[in-house]
Order: sequence, then C-alpha cells, then structure tokens
Amino acid sequence: NPRTIMAAGNWKMNQGVPKQAEKLIGDLQAELKGEENSEVVLGVPFTALAKALDTVAGTDIRIAAQNCHFADKGAYTGEVSPEWLARMGVKYVILGHSERREYFAETDETVNQKIKACRHWGLRPILCCGETLAEREAQQTFTKIGHQIKAALAGVPESDLHFLTVAYEPIWAIGTGKTATDAQAEEVCAFIRDEVAKLYSRETADNLRILYGGSVNAANAAGLFGQKDIDGGLVGGASLKAADFAVIAKSAK
Ligand code: G3H
Repeated sequence: NPRTIMAAGNWKMNQGVPKQAEKLIGDLQAELKGEENSEVVLGVPFTALAKALDTVAGTDIRIAAQNCHFADKGAYTGEVSPEWLARMGVKYVILGHSERREYFAETDETVNQKIKACRHWGLRPILCCGETLAEREAQQTFTKIGHQIKAALAGVPESDLHFLTVAYEPIWAIGTGKTATDAQAEEVCAFIRDEVAKLYSRETADNLRILYGGSVNAANAAGLFGQKDIDGGLVGGASLKAADFAVIAKSAK
C-alpha cells in the first residue's frame, strides 16, 4: 500500500554525535519491540547518518537526511551531495522544511531542484509545506500551500510522484505545543491531495502519502493518523523521546 502510515522523526539539530544517535535508536528499538504498525523513518543529522544506518541495518527502520544540495558535486563549501546520501543507503530526504526556508534561504525553486536531484539518485523526498499564523488568519492558507506544492513539483513527471511524500506542517504548530485539530489538519491534507489531482491525476493523488507535522505527540497521533487524508506524521520534539515516539509508531489506524 503506497499509503502505509509513516511515523517520521525529524531530530533537527539534536543527537548528532554518532554515539548519541546509536543510543536513541537503541532505546527506540527497545520500546518498539517490533510492534510498530507504521513505516518508521528517522531524520538524523548528517554527522550521525553512517552510525544510524549501521544501527538499523537488518531492521525495517529507514533513515532520512534533513536536507541535501541539488548538485552532485562541486564548489559548494559545507554542502552535502544527494549522490553521497544515496550511495550510503539513505532512503528519504526531508526537503523544504520551514526552518530551512526561514533561516537558510531555502526557496520553492531550490526545493524543486533538490526534488529532481533526489529522484535522479533514487532518494525519496519528504516535501514540507505550511502556512504561518498570519497567513492562516488572513485566509491565505490554501493559496500559500497550493503555490508551494505547484512550485516544488514544476517539471516533476507523474511517474516520479510515487516516490514522493508530502508533509503538511503549519508553522504555528511547530514546536509550539499548539497542534492543529484533527479537522484542521485533515482539511489541508485533503486540499493538497486535490491540488495534486489537478496537477497530475486523481489516481496519482489517491496514492500519494501525506503526513501532518506540528506538535504531534503520543496522545494526539492516533486521532490525526485516523483522518481520511492523513497518512502519518513528521515528528520533531516527540521523536527525541524513545517511549513517546514508539507510541506514535504504533498509532496507525
Ligand atoms: O519536522 C517536524 C516538525 O517541524 C514538527 O516539530 O513536532 O517539534 O512540533 P514538532
């Protein structure tokens, strides 16, 4: 099922020493006891990717990077090539996170280039989109998200869409403890699906995995994941707590 529920952790700039990552993954595996009913993906810092890949080897847990460059190589000091990630065994790459857009000059155009580069190397993008509180209050939510999706997918062929996961993350809900209600999250995820149907086809849209992110925790995950158009979560803070993230990974409908 292309829409198997996904529990994706985004560690952000935490637990980046290899030994720290190994410990957190070990703790998580002990909590999961193999009882997860979702696809578990961990977005770890670049410095811990190799250790994380070793630690999950032979299990169903998949590793994600939190960003990549769009070029294969070159004079881009400090950047990380999608080719390297693919060759290491990284499976997913989080792209266009609101923190990267806000603090690191990520734009719809660079996200679009990165999606294409990821596809070239067989990496699966997790494309993030979402509105600010001011945009929501000004009734701009759908306009903003419609634009982000269209721009990110410009020139991406329909045959590549099955590699894509979209994450709807309202910026006002990220790290604030202010989760969107089930209905608010569902409304926007359904809108994203309809936009993809307009850009491509109903069938492609119906097979697209769409996550919600923004203060997902052990208590609210099941309600969110039970919504018709929500296929899991992109989880920040709660993914750093093994016990909480294990509950989330067992919250599939
Ligand atoms: O990528 C994850 C999101 O930014 C959500 O973060 O769960 O800490 O609110 P949060």
